[in-house]
Amino acid sequence: LDDLLSEGVSGRRVLVRADLNVPLDGETITDDGRVRASLPTIRKLTEAGAQVVVTAHLGRPKGEPDPQFSLAPVARRLGELLGSEVALAGDLVGESAKSTVGGLADGQVAVLENVRFDARETSKDDAEREALAAELAALVGDGAAFVSDGFGVVHRKQASVFDVARKLPNYAGGLVLTEVEVLRTLTGEPKRPYVVVLGGSKVSDKLGVIKALLPKVDKLVIGGGMAYTFLAAQGHGVGTSLLQEDQIDNTKQLLADAGDKLVLPVDLVAADRFAADAERRVVDADAIPSDLMGLDIGPRSSELFAQVLSSASTVFWNGPVGVFEFPAFAEGTKAVAQSIIDGDAFSVVGGGDSAAAVRTLGLSEDGFSHISTGGGASLEFLEGKDLPGVAVLEGGA
Ligand code: 3PG
Repeated sequence: LDDLLSEGVSGRRVLVRADLNVPLDGETITDDGRVRASLPTIRKLTEAGAQVVVTAHLGRPKGEPDPQFSLAPVARRLGELLGSEVALAGDLVGESAKSTVGGLADGQVAVLENVRFDARETSKDDAEREALAAELAALVGDGAAFVSDGFGVVHRKQASVFDVARKLPNYAGGLVLTEVEVLRTLTGEPKRPYVVVLGGSKVSDKLGVIKALLPKVDKLVIGGGMAYTFLAAQGHGVGTSLLQEDQIDNTKQLLADAGDKLVLPVDLVAADRFAADAERRVVDADAIPSDLMGLDIGPRSSELFAQVLSSASTVFWNGPVGVFEFPAFAEGTKAVAQSIIDGDAFSVVGGGDSAAAVRTLGLSEDGFSHISTGGGASLEFLEGKDLPGVAVLEGGA
């Protein structure tokens, strides 16, 4: 971004790929962290006199316009936070986008409608994606530049992330740079002890990263829905808890490979149904009654996790350890976050859900060294995978 700014952007159009994929309740944004994270790059560009055209996705629409996935609430919020009007084009590369972009004055910002309303964005067919990328490049026209600032989506080989960077002079935005720099400290030589806490619902989503992390970490703490597949792999009954039966064998192998590095919950908060007002019952992790499901880690687990975290010099946390959206089952996630805040480790929170948990549970973001905007992206980075949206900027793709 600094290179682009020093070239001069006044009067130039700059296409910015941002990750504005925020959680919504109807039209209300429940956590605007990703919109806020996109501000510094956009501000630097508008202050330098660029005409900023933002492209982003929201949710996973089916490749055609769908009003429930409109970026309208996001464009509104962006305008509020920037303190200036932000126009929303009614389409991506059509007539509305052309006239919106054509009407931009220097220093103004427009948002194009959800890029995933066009099926070519996520197509596996290179030619289809390239055709959309060419239309995006043509929309901003000669002399334009592309800034990749949507870190949360750089693991996707998609038209607005990857292909468009090959059609326009490309630059890494401030957010992408910061995220990559911070995560590189974790893949390099992190200060030890290095403790990773992984939560979330599915073991299958985390198998790759667990395998990649095991040789690197001193302790790997497991919570959330995926803990039940670990407990089942140890031979315990898990009642009606979330369970990925087809992953039990893989998980047994992980347990065998991990030795004493894995830390699993020793007790749980269980309930007879998945509901905010369900009655809480603390049970031992190796004795979950057959009619109950675990919805959070229990108090002894919170203490155990706190003990492990208190000795850490580096911490990476991804995924809530319970159903934090229900206040009765948020205690475990709160306790994990608080233990990290109370410690003095270099701490990185990765993942939309854990970052949202920090904010919605009213915890101070300042207690963490870095809160990543990337969920899947930060995990794939730690797994050592090539991220197409980063590789293309480095000229490697
Ligand atoms: C995310 O929420 O992790 C990013 O915005 C990417 O979204 P996706 O998983 O739908 O590609």
